[in-house]
Amino acid sequence: MADLDRRAVEIMKANDRGGFTVPSAGLYPHQWNWDSAFAALGFAEFDLDRAWTEIETLFEGQWPNGMVPHIIFRHNGADYFPGPSVWGCEQVPPTSGHSQPPLAATVVRSLFERDRTAGAARARALLPKLLAWHRWFHETRDPEGRGVIAATHPWESGRDNAPDWDGAMAKVDPTGVTPYDRHDIHQVDPAMRPTQEDYDRYIRIIEWGRAAAWDHLRITREGPLAVADPGLTFILTRADRDLGALAETLGESACAREVATWVDRAAEGAGLLWQDRLRSYAALDLRDGRPADGVSSVAFLAFFAGISDPRRDARLLATLDRVLSAAPFGVPSFDPAHPRFDARRYWRGPSWPVMNYLIGRGLEEAGLVDTAARVRADTRRLIEGGGFYEYYDPRDGSGAGGGDFTWTAAVWLAWASPSKA
Ligand code: GLC
Repeated sequence: MADLDRRAVEIMKANDRGGFTVPSAGLYPHQWNWDSAFAALGFAEFDLDRAWTEIETLFEGQWPNGMVPHIIFRHNGADYFPGPSVWGCEQVPPTSGHSQPPLAATVVRSLFERDRTAGAARARALLPKLLAWHRWFHETRDPEGRGVIAATHPWESGRDNAPDWDGAMAKVDPTGVTPYDRHDIHQVDPAMRPTQEDYDRYIRIIEWGRAAAWDHLRITREGPLAVADPGLTFILTRADRDLGALAETLGESACAREVATWVDRAAEGAGLLWQDRLRSYAALDLRDGRPADGVSSVAFLAFFAGISDPRRDARLLATLDRVLSAAPFGVPSFDPAHPRFDARRYWRGPSWPVMNYLIGRGLEEAGLVDTAARVRADTRRLIEGGGFYEYYDPRDGSGAGGGDFTWTAAVWLAWASPSKA
């Protein structure tokens, strides 16, 4: 095994807390939703049984209404803010109050495909739980059934401070937010983290949800923020397809039929998110109908979602080519040509290997093999040069944010490593 493969395995084992994995010791000391999905992909490379367990423990946090929360708090330590008392959710184990990109069904399908015999019972047990979660997304985050999924908190999108939320965040009034102490800026350089203005609003939105007793439908309709997100929309569309295929294989035809109705709306939803002026898909503020004014890397997940429209695809690919040419270590999370691009600040410019994996896989499946190879080669260079960081500066490839990061190690093992051919 090559050195970096060995190192990646070591990181995953060191971040394993027994059945679940922390994203990064210190900065993120609990279980995060889509991080666990990526972790399972990494574990599958050397311990398939442990990979299944990661997904199973994630579902321990599922709410009675089907939602799988973005954080499951695994201990009572005061080492993370905002902790259970800020969220005020009455769940055991304690959790946060909104969700995160639903990648689990896609991962479950690939675990199952690796070994159908070993995986059949576990996949079957997870199927109704996955279905309930997807139904929750469609019913409460797309109540009008338009085929676009809303983020009601920037954290729900998994892209905390992306410029996609700037317009909607400016309308959130942070006045009266309960005073608090951030932990993240004691762990990493504040210049790489969301700003204080953003943070006050993040907490304000949580306080609104708590006061609404986490009525998710009401939060989508009336809460401080609801932005249709190409990331959530495309990842869910893809996960719906995988869930449907899994249900077919397992002979669960009622599940497959319900999922098919969601997949049918996906093309219409993508049409709503397309912005010809940007030559890209873009987030859409559901409160005032305004689209984001710049290109975020999630736009390129259309291929991963299996969304195809010849005219749009050509334009989107030209945009991807332009963005990759502007950033030697892509894929930058936000357009380097945009005035609000910020090379080291989280989701406002840096490259994230996890996003590259989803983009690259989608491109490859769409037959766009050269572009897929370019994205994979960039990812490999990032990790070879910088180590297993949370994210990287797309101009010089230097690592930023948290170190020894679980999902970066997982993506290396599952896809970016040369040993994956
Ligand atoms: C940050 C990321 C989010 C991730 C979490 C743990 O909040 O924006 O996507 O799940 O860290 O890694």
